[in-house]
Amino acid sequence: MVSFSSLAVFGLAVVSRVSATILQNGQVRETNFPDTRIDPAAHSFRTYPADAAEISYKGRWDSNYVSWWSAPGIKFGYTGQTVAVSFGNLTDNGVLVGYRIGGLDWIFTNITAGATHLLVSPETPGSSETGPVNPWTFEMRVTNWAYGVQIEAVHVAAGEKLIKLPDFGRRIEVIGDSLASGMYTTYEGLSSWAYGLGAGLGNTEYSVTAYPGICAADQNCWGNPHGQVHQWFYTSDTSGRAAAMYGDNPEPWDFKKHPAADIVVINIGTNDQNQANNVSTDAYIDALTKIIQGVHGKWPKAQVVVMSLWLGFYQSGNTYLPNSPDGWVKEIYNMVKWFNSDAYLRNPTIYDGVTRKTSRTGKKAKPFVHYFNTSGIMQHNDIGPQWHPTDVGAIKVASHLQQFIRMTFDWDLYATGPEVFHETLYWNDQSGY
Ligand SMILES: *[C@@H]1O[C@H](CO)[C@@H](O)[C@H](O)[C@H]1NC(C)=O
Ligand SMILES: *[C@@H]1O[C@H](CO)[C@@H](O)[C@H](O)[C@H]1NC(C)=O
Ligand SMILES: *[C@@H]1O[C@H](CO)[C@@H](O)[C@H](O)[C@H]1NC(C)=O
Ligand SMILES: *[C@@H]1O[C@H](CO)[C@@H](O)[C@H](O)[C@H]1NC(C)=O
Repeated sequence: MVSFSSLAVFGLAVVSRVSATILQNGQVRETNFPDTRIDPAAHSFRTYPADAAEISYKGRWDSNYVSWWSAPGIKFGYTGQTVAVSFGNLTDNGVLVGYRIGGLDWIFTNITAGATHLLVSPETPGSSETGPVNPWTFEMRVTNWAYGVQIEAVHVAAGEKLIKLPDFGRRIEVIGDSLASGMYTTYEGLSSWAYGLGAGLGNTEYSVTAYPGICAADQNCWGNPHGQVHQWFYTSDTSGRAAAMYGDNPEPWDFKKHPAADIVVINIGTNDQNQANNVSTDAYIDALTKIIQGVHGKWPKAQVVVMSLWLGFYQSGNTYLPNSPDGWVKEIYNMVKWFNSDAYLRNPTIYDGVTRKTSRTGKKAKPFVHYFNTSGIMQHNDIGPQWHPTDVGAIKVASHLQQFIRMTFDWDLYATGPEVFHETLYWNDQSGY
């Protein structure tokens, strides 16, 4: 019923162009994305390699500067009115990226593998503004989870420079499946509730380790060879792209080299619950428990928010009702209660991706697992025909999560203006009909 993975296997030798028509209520959505490719030889650039300290990588990137999972990105400050990026040949040809200056709206463009793209020029909206965002910032995010880019170099005009931007002081991680990765929303990762949560909190670094079709349990689900209880510990996702690049030897994610998340939001289990994947309740709860213990082991201070599952709606007589109201709701809630029990907190356990061990601290641990009740947030028309949140549904989930996080952890909402979701401005300026 849910989350068919759109796995596309790319032979590295065969250059295939990734491209799909964006639809809106079944109709082709007009795109007109600018073609930003240039011949770098015709420009006078100052060039920074992919490993330049000035370039910040958001989300998960591997040692070849190849992006993975949903909405990974780069960000940096710059001077002048020129920013170009050269993409390596491990880029999926044609992949759609969104980029923006400061807090302005996203601009989209298709990237060609091995090409250089001019993303900021004097014609780019915002490029002649001098503030208030200073230094001037450039941010780019990959829209699709299965496709990626490889950064080869970043260029500014000769005589200009990149500026390293300090990370924001707080950090959020979303662990999930297609529901978090933005499947079937307009701009996929950049329209997902996971992105909306991170961007909407403002002044927050965010990383979305979510992939369509993936289970919590470590087994093949819809063609994903592993579940999150395994894959979350790795840099790359469960795509055919990752299998083609790494086979069975993906790079472990270096938790020591990257700062810990403060809050980890987990929304996983819809694929486990699908009978096609044959995951028992015990196997699911065991995997979800291990994911939380894995987070606790890698990031001992992180607070974990576990979302209850939802499964869409159906018409029942003269109203709409939620599908399968149980949805492991009781089991997930009981698991959260168990994590908060005295017995558990006196003897907490951590998981390193392979083995579990008791982390005896000598004193009682502080509770760190929270329950986010999704019931009543989305209604029947917030779920599209493919069983995933619509753009509006995603915005609702993101907004409620933001408020929950504000109230539970006393986090201010810092984003007070910058566009969060591209092309969701539906308006009416005619009255009296
Ligand atoms: C860019 O990518 C989008 C999404 O895949 C696609 O709809 C569009 O046709 C692509 N445009 C070009 C020029 O390839
Ligand atoms: C990809 O790029 C690297 C580095 O520029 C180059 O050595 C390699 O030959 C290229 N591979 C292909 C298949 O074009
Ligand atoms: C589902 O799992 C059960 C218990 O692990 C097993 O006995 C059964 O053969 C499985 N069914 C399928 C279709 O894989
Ligand atoms: C979740 O919310 C629904 C709707 O408000 C409510 O009926 C249910 O009791 C809540 N679950 C928990 C565990 O609080």
